[in-house]
Amino acid sequence: MSIAYLNGEFLPLEQAKVPVLDRGFLFADSIYEVIPVYAGALFRFKQHIQRLNNSLAAIKLPLQQTEQQWREILETLIECNDMPNAAIYLQITRGAYPERNHDFPQTVVPTILATISPLPEVQTDSKHSDIKGISVITAEDIRWHRCDIKSTGLLANCLLKQQALESGADDTILVRNGQAGEATSSNLFVVKERTIITPPHSDHILPGVTRDFVVALAHLDGIPLVERNIQAKELSGADEIWLTSSTKEIRPVTQLNGVTIGNGQVGPLWQRMNALYQQLKKQLFSGEVKDLTINGRIKH
Ligand code: PDD
Repeated sequence: MSIAYLNGEFLPLEQAKVPVLDRGFLFADSIYEVIPVYAGALFRFKQHIQRLNNSLAAIKLPLQQTEQQWREILETLIECNDMPNAAIYLQITRGAYPERNHDFPQTVVPTILATISPLPEVQTDSKHSDIKGISVITAEDIRWHRCDIKSTGLLANCLLKQQALESGADDTILVRNGQAGEATSSNLFVVKERTIITPPHSDHILPGVTRDFVVALAHLDGIPLVERNIQAKELSGADEIWLTSSTKEIRPVTQLNGVTIGNGQVGPLWQRMNALYQQLKKQLFSGEVKDLTINGRIKH
């Protein structure tokens, strides 16, 4: 049984209870983050906390916690669970109030929950000969218009993911106004003629921490990358498609709507980008660097 953090207390997960009138439960009045941990260290922590603060501001939920206070809570959680490779789930709701009422309460007593679960062993093989891509379908993006907020209102994402599973695929790329934005829980990259393409930040996609990291890595490595809208009809002619997220890292896609992408193997740019990603993570494992800050170049 793992240990969870709930409103200031560390306790066994099964004892972590939230009232039924919590607005997170009633209205999905709530936001979250998923932060990967490698060798006991929080990966891209500042960026995750920055996005958490952006989500809180977007839903008008004021919180006092500083980055350092979040770090202390989450590092204690990692230590309590003795789980060096993990994903931390952090959720903040507008709290529980005596009655169900759409109006925001006068004073906010938020519910803060953090849990931890193991991440699968990191794939660091540089040959990638045994790496298989995943299969995706495309479907209309039926979500709301503020997908840049990391809200726990994920019913549409769940329906669209389930649609993929029921059609024998692994995930769904979401299409809005003819444009492919992202997948149900990851960002989208396409490679065409040795150029990496990813949609720009907008209200219709989540500003993925992994996405931004990959964009920075490509710039650093001199690989051509453009941020522009991707027409759904471009996908079938792509040389490579990847999906990125904190838990999946950079995942190659080799089937789209039942048709093979490229030659059906993971592509050369994916191999390059994945190798770079793994290399930087290893530096973190070995303690060579404490955190990675990318601003045009990597600062140690
Ligand atoms: N999902 N787009 C959506 C809709 C997401 O839910 C996620 C992450 C991403 C990738 O963001 P990041 O690189 O910061 O993890 C993009 C998390 C992992 C989840 O819901 O479990």
